[in-house]
Amino acid sequence: MDNHKVLVYGATGYTGKLICLRLKELNINFAIAGRDKAKVAELSSRLNVPNFVFETSDFGAWQEALRGGVCLINAAGPFALTAENAMHACLQSKVHYLDISAEMPTYQLAESLDQQAKEAGIMMISGAGLFVAYDALVVHTAKRVKRAQQLFVAFRHYGGFSKGSVKSSKYIVDLGLLIRDNGELKQITEASAKVFDFGEGPQECFPTSLGGIIVSYKSTSIPNIREYFQLQLPVLTTNPTDIENLPDGPTAEERAGGRSKLAVEVIGTDGDSAYSIADLPSGYTLTSLSVVAVACRILNGDLMPGYQTAGSAYGENIMRDIPDSHIIDR
Ligand SMILES: NC(=O)c1ccc[n+]([C@@H]2O[C@H](COP(=O)([O-])OP(=O)(O)OC[C@H]3O[C@@H](n4cnc5c(N)ncnc54)[C@H](OP(=O)(O)O)[C@@H]3O)[C@@H](O)[C@H]2O)c1
Repeated sequence: MDNHKVLVYGATGYTGKLICLRLKELNINFAIAGRDKAKVAELSSRLNVPNFVFETSDFGAWQEALRGGVCLINAAGPFALTAENAMHACLQSKVHYLDISAEMPTYQLAESLDQQAKEAGIMMISGAGLFVAYDALVVHTAKRVKRAQQLFVAFRHYGGFSKGSVKSSKYIVDLGLLIRDNGELKQITEASAKVFDFGEGPQECFPTSLGGIIVSYKSTSIPNIREYFQLQLPVLTTNPTDIENLPDGPTAEERAGGRSKLAVEVIGTDGDSAYSIADLPSGYTLTSLSVVAVACRILNGDLMPGYQTAGSAYGENIMRDIPDSHIIDR
């Protein structure tokens, strides 16, 4: 039997492969898994790592693949179709659970398994992609005011979208526009755009629910949270017409061609406020660097059992573990 410490499920996807390359770069002992035998075998021989082929509903196969392991990275989205089985497999095998979901229901699912995770002695973080840097920045900015009352976060994505992100977007868009209002999640039908400065002058950003209304509420308890999005696409080298004809994701050159940005404003009960920016690698690169940074903490025994977020487990310090990522206070 091999002695892999990390299992990447959904490894053959666009982001899964980037995660594997990062694990390889750091010489971490890992294995890959997925449901498509030919794709998994091809990647396994290319990376020279062990592989497992199974559907997420096969709990016997999960047990075998997770045996002796420390941490699962679930990269198989839409997570509405994979996260529940993967989380229960981790509870069964007492292996820490991470995913890169952008779907809020999987954050809530992990939250609902908090007690079971504590009893199993495992940590569960759903949304350990973008939300590692996002949450670290929010925790950092919230500390700069006395009693944080309102949080506004804007994300300027760079790097286009993978086919998988487009497929998963249905599970996000269908939820409508959500905000955190006096501690409660609330659906609203109208909201105004808001201007943020990512360090290059004022830019209009549009109301969107990204997930910080769950993740950063857990980390900071700020009772009022609104989120915004400002898209910056790279120059695409292809001309996609529908989802199946889309490229798997941006090329390495496209990913390297720009930066993703986060801007956070926190207002306190006394009216004091703080504004901070994060300057980050572009979207998919950021996700792979972030989830592996959290996996490394886990491998070093730095973790908190139960449902966690990057901010609740590691505070703002986790940002230092993401290469080429910087916080700028204004
Ligand atoms: N928030 C973030 O930071 C962030 C960043 C990047 C990606 N994501 C999310 O990560 C997910 C993956 O993105 P991607 O670009 O890597 O997509 P992708 O290239 O389409 O890869 C998806 C992977 O998941 C597997 N998969 C899909 N449905 C499955 C199922 N029901 N059972 C088992 N395996 C399944 C696919 O296997 P097959 O090849 O067998 O179909 C493939 O390996 C998406 O949900 C995306 O939104 C989030």
